[in-house]
Amino acid sequence: MLERIRQQCATGRAEWQDCTDAETSVAVERYTSVDIYQREIDKLFRGLPLIAAHGSELQAGQVLAHDGYGVPILLSRDKDGVVRAHLNVCRHRGTRLVESSTAIAKSSIVCPYHGWAYQLDGKLRHRLHAESFDKKECADEDLVALPCVERHGLIWVVPSSGSDFDKLSSNSLDEYLGELSAEMPFYEVAQLTHFRTIEAEYPANWKLIVDAFLESYHIRVLHKNTIAPFFTDGITAGGRFGSEQSGKPHIHSLVARRAAQAWSEQGDTSLQKTMPQNIRELSELVTPSQVIFPNTITIFHPDYLSLITLYPTSVGTLRWTHKMLIPKDRADSTWVAHWEKTFNLIEKGVFQAEDIHTAVQIQKGFASGANTHLRLGRIEQAVSWFHDSVARHTAASR
Ligand code: FES
Ligand SMILES: [Fe+2]
Repeated sequence: MLERIRQQCATGRAEWQDCTDAETSVAVERYTSVDIYQREIDKLFRGLPLIAAHGSELQAGQVLAHDGYGVPILLSRDKDGVVRAHLNVCRHRGTRLVESSTAIAKSSIVCPYHGWAYQLDGKLRHRLHAESFDKKECADEDLVALPCVERHGLIWVVPSSGSDFDKLSSNSLDEYLGELSAEMPFYEVAQLTHFRTIEAEYPANWKLIVDAFLESYHIRVLHKNTIAPFFTDGITAGGRFGSEQSGKPHIHSLVARRAAQAWSEQGDTSLQKTMPQNIRELSELVTPSQVIFPNTITIFHPDYLSLITLYPTSVGTLRWTHKMLIPKDRADSTWVAHWEKTFNLIEKGVFQAEDIHTAVQIQKGFASGANTHLRLGRIEQAVSWFHDSVARHTAASR
């Protein structure tokens, strides 16, 4: 993909200019139909591995409550470092077990109602006045486990059991990610550490946000006063990744920054010398970004990672969760002011004021009936890849 960027910069001709595919469109109904929304919840948000946290958010012997996906999830990491997910619901009379959404140390999980105690691996350990209950199969009393795996520095959970991913493992996850799994180590996500999470709800369909991160067409106009000066106009290289069976639903792309222009103009020998060797060098030239299907967006800024996850709380509303992940060697207190400033600039100045704001305005316009379809030019092709994948995974026959 970097070679494709180099060629476009060197020739001054972007790939989309030579693309002969037809213009495409997305039906407005995809953003407004309650029926489609319900199928997205069932098939995508209950049946696929979703990213729930970065590994650094949960240390050994800690637990945290995750409610971002409409299901009360309890994440735990035992003393040996193994991460698990269970429903955050007591097996006695259903009380929520852990309240805190930030990690807290626990040697066992004790229900605040009548004190049933569970181990971090979900096994019931102790019941007060146990003789008051009939003997039952132990499994009926252990916490309900959800498929969960820690991979590429991230904690992945399937928020229901009985899906194709019931036996979620590093292998099955990598198979689902396809060649993207081989790319992931280069991005060193596991080496980063969590700095901040912002969570908010907005009145827009969740896919409008994904759309905004799949094309660079809007950078020049919508972001003219913020990030546009750092980027070229429409020079990108992207591709579809994933298993054949899943229809390659993940999208990975590079958006050329201004620095890529001078880099591409060097002679061949100097180019080889200046070939980026790691993510820090790469992200000076291009901004890599991924849509990890269905709901995660990664943006590799020059010195940190924005990890965004989305969840549709209704057909016309979304929950936005933006995590800023920073290098460990810049995580001490002397860096806090720098990261605060950077995070505010991108989260408030760019995402909230520009990208999310636009999504909300688009959603408002749907009811007007002005458009039955939204048009996608060849420069916006990745948006139609994403919608094809959503349609494929939510088709009534699946
Ligand atoms: S509801 Fe948890 S111990 Fe009673
Ligand atoms: Fe944008």
